[in-house]
Amino acid sequence: MALLKIRTYPDPVLKETAREVSDIDGRINGLVESMVQTMYSAPGIGLAAPQVGESRRLVVIDTDHQNPGKHLLKLINPQIIEREGSIVWEEGCLSVVDYNAEVKRSAKVLARAFTPEQKEIEIEADGLLAVVLQHEIDHLDGKLFIDRISRIKRELYRRKLQKALKEGKTDGERPSGARL
Ligand code: NI
Repeated sequence: MALLKIRTYPDPVLKETAREVSDIDGRINGLVESMVQTMYSAPGIGLAAPQVGESRRLVVIDTDHQNPGKHLLKLINPQIIEREGSIVWEEGCLSVVDYNAEVKRSAKVLARAFTPEQKEIEIEADGLLAVVLQHEIDHLDGKLFIDRISRIKRELYRRKLQKALKEGKTDGERPSGARL
């Protein structure tokens, strides 16, 4: 198990559509375990494989850092199969440095996925968990939360990031709040 390097925008791997996992083998399970460690260490409440440079349909989520592991989800080929209502939530992302924004998502979702034990599960979620599921599955489709905000806000963020990169200041402060 190892901590993996988190890729950040504009790394091209974040734009790719991740490939389905057809065989849940030792390599996939090892990657999932490394993703769990990387998520807790970041710290973040969700992490998708493209964020660590692996373009595969794998996601780990734990929205309860008070009790690490208790509600940990390891999802293989997750899909949202039903959605309802809408909700606006302030999101951050481990792959988008120094930026949070309000994003509109479905309020309730029903997701289906495989576990590392090859079991098919369904997850009914609302609130934060619904937001995280949608955010992480977006990563598998090459989408970041900044692709879901207005063009003008995205452009302002791009400029801010370019300036920070030029000045070498991106490793400094991160906004408060959960990162997904
Ligand atoms: Ni993210």
